[in-house]
Amino acid sequence: MTRAAWGSRLGFILAAAGSAIGLGAIWKFPYVTAQNGGGAFLLIFLVMVFTLGISIMIAEMAVGQISQQSPVGAYRYFGGRPWSIVGYIGVFCGFLILSFYSVVGGWTVFYIVRSLDTAFLTADAVVLKQIFDTFIADPTEPLWYHAGFMAMTAGVVLAGVQKGIERVSKSLMTMLFLLILVLIARSLTLPGASEGVMYFLTPDFAKVDARMVLEAMGLAFFSLSLGMGCMMTYGSYVSGETNLARSAASVIGLTTGICILVGLMILPAVFAFGLDPAEGAGLTFIIMPMVFSHLGGGQFFALLFFFLLFVAALTSSVSLMEVVTSFFIDEFSLPRIPVAIVMAVLMFILGIAASLSFGPWKGYTLFGMTIFKLLDYVTSHLMMPFGGIMVTLLVGWKACQQVARRLSVDGRPPRWWPLMKPFCRYVAPLLILLVLFQNL
Ligand code: PHE
Repeated sequence: MTRAAWGSRLGFILAAAGSAIGLGAIWKFPYVTAQNGGGAFLLIFLVMVFTLGISIMIAEMAVGQISQQSPVGAYRYFGGRPWSIVGYIGVFCGFLILSFYSVVGGWTVFYIVRSLDTAFLTADAVVLKQIFDTFIADPTEPLWYHAGFMAMTAGVVLAGVQKGIERVSKSLMTMLFLLILVLIARSLTLPGASEGVMYFLTPDFAKVDARMVLEAMGLAFFSLSLGMGCMMTYGSYVSGETNLARSAASVIGLTTGICILVGLMILPAVFAFGLDPAEGAGLTFIIMPMVFSHLGGGQFFALLFFFLLFVAALTSSVSLMEVVTSFFIDEFSLPRIPVAIVMAVLMFILGIAASLSFGPWKGYTLFGMTIFKLLDYVTSHLMMPFGGIMVTLLVGWKACQQVARRLSVDGRPPRWWPLMKPFCRYVAPLLILLVLFQNL
């Protein structure tokens, strides 16, 4: 069987950016940044993105492209059997992420439905907080949305690489970008908005500690879809001559750009409306309706916003499911359709626990974290950084020559390669380890 492939370099970039840009940039980034005091956190996040992020993305894409295999096979190809364990961990990580990601994806669908109701557009924080809190704590309602979101994810994956992912990714992302610009204009012109801009952009280094650095690193891994083999899998669908470094840079630029724009859309409004920046997971869902209530045609914009947020989430969840399904397809030659369905059901079941942990199961905690929080923490703070260590070590030591050759243009390795090699060999793994150990 010939391996599925992207239609073009643009198709690849859009799909990879579609994977990266999602709930990470629009839901997680703003609330985590706000919780961590703004400016200084943003700066550390950016440092993580432009050091670890860019090199790990290039590393993953190259390893996937050369081996033409999904993570397990790709690690085995370069490192032999023992290394394939890293691939298994990555696949498992994707499984865990999608189980709770789909819960939040379901929230976006709920908010599309809510936007149809005019009474929803209010500037009353108490009402909006209540809508959010009541919904996520409900023992059954969010589960329907979670099921719907998971089913749609599986549906796209079933359509196959080319038709499904590429087509969805190609459209609508531009629209999201334009909409965010409109919303920034509204948010920035609210009275009191400048305080939010200051909060977001002025670093206060007194707030920095080891925990915050780990938060920023975890967020970088999560929002760039790194460390679990997603970019490796997408890279494996690249054929021929595609310039991987340039593609990686485009994906990083697009995603980080969206993160910053989303920060400018949300934080000024948070301050203008007097909401607590430490609000947490509900921040985007509570603050945006307030912005819409101050905007002509607010209901239309609300609908559009939550719809595009849903699409952004879907292109990311599809990439997560692609990692999990392509593992079974590549490793066991199983057919795509039953694999995707069985995996979707299993992830849905684990997601039930994550969803209930906002309501009836709130009290069940481990290390002080609910099931949802624990899944989130273990994946982005431990498993993805671990994957980052391993892929840089692989490229730095085992796959060095092949990757250098693959990245070469006209037979010569790129000018930055002399930096990349020691960075992958020593700096990146040690940096990640240091951040992890500082937190033990
Ligand atoms: N980067 C995605 C987002 O921000 C989440 C994701 C993580 C997707 C890991 C794939 C792999 O929404």
